[in-house]
Amino acid sequence: EIAFYQDKFVGIDEKVVPIQERGHQFGDGIYEVVRVYGGVPFLLDEHLLRMEKSADALEMKLPYTTEKIKEIIHEALNRSNYTDADIYFQVTRGISARQHHYPEVPTVFSLTVRPAKAIDETKRQEGIGVLLVEDVRWLNCYIKSLNLLPNVMAKQKAMAGGYYEAIFQRDGIVTEGSSSNLFVVKDGQLFTHPATNRILHGITRAKVLELAAKLDIPVQEQEFDINFLHQGDEAFITSTSAEVLPIREIGELELPRTRPITDRLAEAFKDLYKVK
Ligand code: PDD
Repeated sequence: EIAFYQDKFVGIDEKVVPIQERGHQFGDGIYEVVRVYGGVPFLLDEHLLRMEKSADALEMKLPYTTEKIKEIIHEALNRSNYTDADIYFQVTRGISARQHHYPEVPTVFSLTVRPAKAIDETKRQEGIGVLLVEDVRWLNCYIKSLNLLPNVMAKQKAMAGGYYEAIFQRDGIVTEGSSSNLFVVKDGQLFTHPATNRILHGITRAKVLELAAKLDIPVQEQEFDINFLHQGDEAFITSTSAEVLPIREIGELELPRTRPITDRLAEAFKDLYKVK
């Protein structure tokens, strides 16, 4: 496993973060997770662009150019010798005596490379169980911020109940998963929450929408409620690590076992990184 903190490679368990780092004092930072298939970071440009958007929203200046970040990523991958890996990187507002307002100090980049957490094939075939949880997050969910406590609590609640993922609902409107986006298929059409401030604009979500267009699957980016989700013919989550992952049950409710549209999209998504 490889780690990088503020300009240099370090041991993964080395103690490197000073106490007054805003990342852990305030959660004042942003992050990305990128999947590596066959030695190639998948959709890296898209992830870097989203990181720039998160940084802009928080008036944070990235410490390096995008080119430099790519160099670090490639160097880290080379050092790791992994062909299938998860790359995590984050930028925090830096190190400064504790005060709430933004200090004038350089931001801090850090990164880890670890073996990919692949989801086992049985789970992919059978689908996952999800639990609906109230969305108590703030209204800037499009920023990929380090503040993940509501997500962490929701996932914990789901897992403690034997479910794989928590699905958020806000005032009855279904938004997204604790670390994934959500899609529902109804009468041959694909539904997902619009890319507003209430969800993270997932890179996988965007790719799936592109694929749906190519496959002539009609798409509705519109809000829907819990009732609509329960009446779905199919449902699935998307994320960098989950890819396109079917949902088998929502709480107590079992969804139909045949999932023609989910299966087509999951296959088409796989082809995106297989052919490259
Ligand atoms: N999670 N929504 C939320 C709240 C997320 O945290 C994520 C990603 C997604 C899916 O986005 P993408 O397709 O770009 O991975 C949606 C990452 C993987 C994580 O926190 O580990």
